[in-house]
Amino acid sequence: MAYINENFIKIPPTYLFSEIAKRVEQHKAENPSAKIIRMGIGDVTLPLPDASVDAMIKAAEEQRHVETFRGYGPEQGYEFLRQAIVENDFRARGIKLDVDEVFVSDGAKSDTGNIGDIFGVDNRVAITDPSYPVYVDTNAMAGRAGEPNEFNEWDKLTYLPCNENNNFVPQLPTEKVDMIYLCYPNNPTGTTLSKQQLRTWVEYAKANRSIILFDAAYEAFITEENVPHSIYEIEGAKEVAIEFRSFSKTAGFTGTRCGYTVVPKELVGYTHQGEAVALNKLWLRRQSTKFNGTSYIVQRGAEATFTPEGRKQVKQLIEYYLENARIIREGVSKVGLKVFGGVNAPYVWVKAPENMGSWEYFDYLLKQKNIVTTPGAGFGRSGEGYIRFSAFGSRENTMEAMERIKR
Ligand code: MLT
Repeated sequence: MAYINENFIKIPPTYLFSEIAKRVEQHKAENPSAKIIRMGIGDVTLPLPDASVDAMIKAAEEQRHVETFRGYGPEQGYEFLRQAIVENDFRARGIKLDVDEVFVSDGAKSDTGNIGDIFGVDNRVAITDPSYPVYVDTNAMAGRAGEPNEFNEWDKLTYLPCNENNNFVPQLPTEKVDMIYLCYPNNPTGTTLSKQQLRTWVEYAKANRSIILFDAAYEAFITEENVPHSIYEIEGAKEVAIEFRSFSKTAGFTGTRCGYTVVPKELVGYTHQGEAVALNKLWLRRQSTKFNGTSYIVQRGAEATFTPEGRKQVKQLIEYYLENARIIREGVSKVGLKVFGGVNAPYVWVKAPENMGSWEYFDYLLKQKNIVTTPGAGFGRSGEGYIRFSAFGSRENTMEAMERIKR
């Protein structure tokens, strides 16, 4: 008899975005002529930068010839891409990293989910509430979250509420925690932490020998000064933080798949006997066992985002989506709704009107306006009463959605 991992039957049967897709499909089936505008999942709509497409075509052509053909690549990623990452994403901001501290992957979703493999199940995990559902779900699958209550809150997780009262800035936990998930600019609220606010967390982690899992997938959308692009801008963070990055939202790679994770060499976790162990070595061992690397072609495409043309094209993509975010902010404010985020992030966090619940307002917008959003409650209990708009749609659809909301 094969026993299952029973943690899987404790989590909700469908992943948040799959549940939304199901509801949208049903609405579409019932209303075949409805012109549905999708502002739910943060999936990009503009095509890849030309620089990336050209580089991928060239790389694909190389695969045709025996002299240039490549089979398995290094599990950690090709040196050319890791070098470009170290130079452009870090050295340019005064952060010194070695190439072997960067692990290229197929995206930040996999990495933020898989990273749990190298941590013990008895760690106490802190998660901001609301948060990207992958953090909670993967810890629950691993057995680190304990048992859920009727609000799907887990008894072994420490929730850090982020709401209007605390300006969406998580407060330090009162109990000692070992692993801390922080995502800034934040998914789903679109809000940020200042350097000083992030420094508080680095100091906490140092004092408690905790590890911060810093998801910086949206850093390219930062427009304001004093908002850190990387946690390593904070002194000492290399001793306490793993950082996740993605080409998905930055350069349109949601379908192409490429991201990376930084595990500094000075970062350690502990055995129960108190022996310090380098996490970089553990992650390398994990990746080389379970992952065979991102495709060569895709890595060439990602590398091209760092060329002068690539950078220009990426900048245009980001500006386009940020303008959408501005239109959403303005549109929903005009109808009197409270709005947050959208200045340093492609997400706009909106308080539902008249004390409506998240799913209630989601259903209203879907059924009455044919607009798909994401209900805030799907990101955690503190998200109840809010919905999230994604700014990754077309300009035309974004403007049309705001018109529909105004009507
Ligand atoms: C989101 O909408 O929150 C993201 O697109 C999900 C993801 O990146 O996996």
